[in-house]
Amino acid sequence: MYKSCVSASVGEFRPPARLLLGPGPSDVHPRVLRAMAAPLLGHLDPAFIAMMEDVKTLLRAVFGTANELTIPISGTGSAGMEACLVNLLEPNDTAVIGVNGVFGTRMAEVAERAGARVVRVEAAWGEIVRAEQVEAALRQCTQPKLVALVHAETSTGAWQPLADASRLARAHGALFLADCVTSLAGVPVDVDAVGIDAAYSGTQKCLSCPPGLSPVTFGPRAIEALGRRKTRVQSWYLDLSLLARYWGEERVYHHTAPISMNYALREALRLVFEEGLEARYARHLLHHRALAAGLEAMGLTLAAQPGHRLPMLNAVTVPDGIAEERVRASLLERHGIEIGAGLGPMRGKVWRIGLMGESCRRASVLLVLVALEEALRAEGKQTPPGAALASAARVYAA
Ligand SMILES: Cc1ncc(COP(=O)(O)O)c(C=O)c1O
Repeated sequence: MYKSCVSASVGEFRPPARLLLGPGPSDVHPRVLRAMAAPLLGHLDPAFIAMMEDVKTLLRAVFGTANELTIPISGTGSAGMEACLVNLLEPNDTAVIGVNGVFGTRMAEVAERAGARVVRVEAAWGEIVRAEQVEAALRQCTQPKLVALVHAETSTGAWQPLADASRLARAHGALFLADCVTSLAGVPVDVDAVGIDAAYSGTQKCLSCPPGLSPVTFGPRAIEALGRRKTRVQSWYLDLSLLARYWGEERVYHHTAPISMNYALREALRLVFEEGLEARYARHLLHHRALAAGLEAMGLTLAAQPGHRLPMLNAVTVPDGIAEERVRASLLERHGIEIGAGLGPMRGKVWRIGLMGESCRRASVLLVLVALEEALRAEGKQTPPGAALASAARVYAA
């Protein structure tokens, strides 16, 4: 009786049509969705193991690394963050962490929970952490173990340069960790060329795969540090030396791999390389430029520091007197477009428009500009009708 009531009242879930232009997840290609619907294999089936090898090879290519230990962690981007920090840090180690938004703040908290002494290198939200600040922090530390920065700060839209900080970390004998959750497959990451010792990402941003896996890569210096640990990694689930035995040659069961998510990631990566990395980066830049031109024509401004604005995440300052939430609701209800709200101190002050992976296309830019113009007019902000579209069109025509 109870069971029949439940099945009668809880029908099949049919998600409404959406254009995902928020901070992630982004739209997913039908081929990726189809891959997820493929029959399951066991996590030690030779066919699945062969598929895991493809995922590792493709991940190395997208990270720009020869690192053998390049694998997807089971879990979202935060699981990758936690995996990197709990494996690389031991209690009382010193970690220098750039904090200029939500995700630097989160890294600092995870590192503290791992028992590390955290030196926060702070910058205003929307700005980058400058290399001189990192250097000054490193000078204060005796034996820093790790420097960590967020490459693409999704909460603010700031595009953090990494090369100088990586060089400084090495000069001070520290490892260099980069959060590439939002940057991977949208802008160059180049792990080996930049000298990144460890990095993590997420599947639901520019890889355009559903959320659920967190690709990580560990280079030789990071692996050496793992080997020198005096204490066991506090997390059994995220202990890389255990995970490496499943993803490496031994194939020892650790936990049941999320089979369908790995199929999806493989297909999403195949799509990335069918397009080509350079073409993909150029596409993200082009649509960002068109969006920025359209926003400017409407009298809107981007919140991140000029010269360091991410292509795939555009934090737009909400003009005075506009109800931030009502505009987002109008986009969702009238056009099925999701954009993101501000987080932390930027709550109510910015909209976050993502142009990530599959969502990063001309139709998205044009539609969101039209929808925003309409919503702003309803809020009483007069913008010259069609000016945003004309400015975006000029970028595309150039
Ligand atoms: C830069 C950055 N780091 C880490 C995360 C955490 O990822 P997740 O929400 O997938 O756990 C996010 C998510 O938006 C992010 O943008």
